[in-house]
Amino acid sequence: MSELSLHTFEPPSDHKVSVFDELDSTNQEALRRAPDFDGTPLWIVARRQTKGRGREGRNWVSEPGNLYTSFLFRPQCSLSTANQLSFVTGVGVFETVRSVLGSSPQAEQIRLKWPNDILVDRKKIAGILIESFLASQSHEPVIAIGIGINIAHHPVLPDRETTHLGAHVGGVNPELVFSALSRELDQSIEQWDRGRNFDLIRQHWSERAHNPGERLSVRVGNNRFEGVFNGLDDDGALKIKLDTGELKRVTVGDVLIPRPSSDR
Ligand code: BTN
Repeated sequence: MSELSLHTFEPPSDHKVSVFDELDSTNQEALRRAPDFDGTPLWIVARRQTKGRGREGRNWVSEPGNLYTSFLFRPQCSLSTANQLSFVTGVGVFETVRSVLGSSPQAEQIRLKWPNDILVDRKKIAGILIESFLASQSHEPVIAIGIGINIAHHPVLPDRETTHLGAHVGGVNPELVFSALSRELDQSIEQWDRGRNFDLIRQHWSERAHNPGERLSVRVGNNRFEGVFNGLDDDGALKIKLDTGELKRVTVGDVLIPRPSSDR
């Protein structure tokens, strides 16, 4: 797992980058570095991961050709405010995918799915896993934002439709997508302003996600229920109006997307 000195992954000038041919997981590497972190925002990139992690204990298939990266930084806010980064990052990755797809017709088909999956044509193209480390003395959180973007291929999964950028545009590679991502995420974090502008981020997220009144199916653990999307609560929880009229708040779980009708 030795670091590559020659590479063309270029983050914004005030960030550092460490690039590897192979890692267990870029998030795992970020958390290994968290205790000695000097505060200079750091990107960790791997061309391949052997133990890529997804949300809710799932595995993230990580063969070469896609982007696997983690952004390690100090958000300079409390851990509970740092939870908002899920939406901040969702907006940043959405904008990354939009800038890479450019004027292709698929650029109109990008959506965010709660809390932060990025879909193109209702198929997942990118995922986000945020993990935190709390320094015992300062109590200041260090955050690892892990991002996987399908570029050259996508895994075939039994429970969800997936796609990759190369299926929609030519000439994309991890270096190019990384350059857009590091810029867009930096911008989104700056806009968020340590939580002071979360209302703005929530508005940006909402404009890019489910339509008001859209019917959603939600899985929380082994429970499933359906209802109508009723926006985000102040803390980012998903609000669903059940058919009984009851309003349900969802803080962990998955929104299930029906298969595109052309594939049925
Ligand atoms: C999800 O389940 O949607 C989240 C997937 C997150 C995958 C990325 S790839 C880079 C980083 N390292 C990991 O082990 N996971 C995240």
